Amino acid sequence: MIDPEKDLSLTVQELTNAYEELSLLYRISEVFSFLSIDEICSRIANEAINSLGVKTAAVLFVDEKGERLFTKISIGNWDRDMEIVRDNGVIWKSIETRRPSAYCRLKETGYDDYLSQLTSLMVCPLVGKVKVIGALVIADKETGEEFFSNDSKLLSAISAQAGLAIENALLYKELESLLLGAIRSLVKALEASSCWTAGHTERVTEYSIGIGRHMGLGSEVIEKLKISALLHDIGKIATPKEILNKNGKLDEDEWIEIKRHPALGAEILVELKQFKEIILSIKYHHEHWDGKNGIFGLKGEEIPLMARILSVADAFDAMTSDRPYRQMKSREDAIIEIERCSGTQFDPEVVNAFLLWVRGFTQLHQVSGF
Ligand SMILES: [Fe+2]
Repeated sequence: MIDPEKDLSLTVQELTNAYEELSLLYRISEVFSFLSIDEICSRIANEAINSLGVKTAAVLFVDEKGERLFTKISIGNWDRDMEIVRDNGVIWKSIETRRPSAYCRLKETGYDDYLSQLTSLMVCPLVGKVKVIGALVIADKETGEEFFSNDSKLLSAISAQAGLAIENALLYKELESLLLGAIRSLVKALEASSCWTAGHTERVTEYSIGIGRHMGLGSEVIEKLKISALLHDIGKIATPKEILNKNGKLDEDEWIEIKRHPALGAEILVELKQFKEIILSIKYHHEHWDGKNGIFGLKGEEIPLMARILSVADAFDAMTSDRPYRQMKSREDAIIEIERCSGTQFDPEVVNAFLLWVRGFTQLHQVSGF
C-alpha cells in the first residue's frame, strides 16, 4: 500500500537533492572562470567539504608521466607529501575506470598502508575533455555515516565541472606563457634598438595594472591591459634608429616620424584577430581626453579605456625617466603635472585612480624603507 506521507517526504527529499545539485553546479561554473589552478582546486576541496559534510578532501593530480599521484590541495586529515605510485588500489582503480567509487571500511580493502588515518573514502576521477587530470578524494563524514548514492552524484557533479575548469586553466596558462614569451621577445628587440627606452615597457605595464586595479577592472580586462602595455610602443620598431637615439631635441619631421608609432603598432598586430581591443588601445594611447593635440583627434570616451590608462602610465614614466630631449622630473613634480593635465590631456577618472595608486605605492615604499 502507498503511504502518501512517506511518498511526499521522498519527493521532497529528491527535490531537495536536485536543488542542491543544481545550485552547486551554478556556484561552481560561475566562479571558475578566470581563476588560477590553485584557486580552482581550493574551491573544489571546500565545496566538497561543505556539500558532502566530510572532514577531509583532497585534489590529486596525475604527474606528467602518468605514474604517480601527488596532492595539489588538501583539507583535513590528509598527508600532503604522500605520493601514490600507480597501483591496483582504490584511487588508481577509480581513475582507470573513470568511475567514482566509495569504501566504507577502508581497512577491509587492504589499502590502509597509505590511508591508515581514514575510515571511509570516496573517490571521483577528474576528467577533462582531453585527459584524466587526477582525482577528487573525500573521506569520513562528520556524522560518521556511510556514503550514499546521492553523495556519489554530488561528488561526480563537482568533479565533472572541476575537471573541465582545471583543464581550461592549464591550457590557458600554457597559451598565456607562450604568448607573453613571444611578446617579451618583441619588446626586447624594440628596447635593444633604443638606448633611451630600457625598462620603459615593464614600468608602463606595472603602472597601468596599478591604475586598472584601482579602477576596479576585472581580471580579464587587466590581462588585456597588461598585453596592451607590453606592446604599446611596438610600432617604434619601424622608427629609424637615428631618431630614437638622437641625442638632442627632435625637429618637426622627426616628431612626425615618431608620431607614426601608434598606427604602425596597430598595423603590425592587425592579423591577431583576438587582439582587437588591444590593438585599438595601442593605436590610441597618445590621444588627449579633450580631443586636442592627439594624433587621431579622438575625444573623451571615444578613446578606449585601456588607451586612456596607458596614456597616464606612459606619461608618468616618460616624465620620471631621462630622455635626450628634456630633463627628468622628480616623482612629485610628475604627479603634480599629471594632476594639472586631468580633464585636458588625461581622463579625470583615470587620473583619480592613478593618484590613489601612486600614493599607496609611495607609502608602501616609504614604509619599507626604499
Ligand atoms: Fe608611445
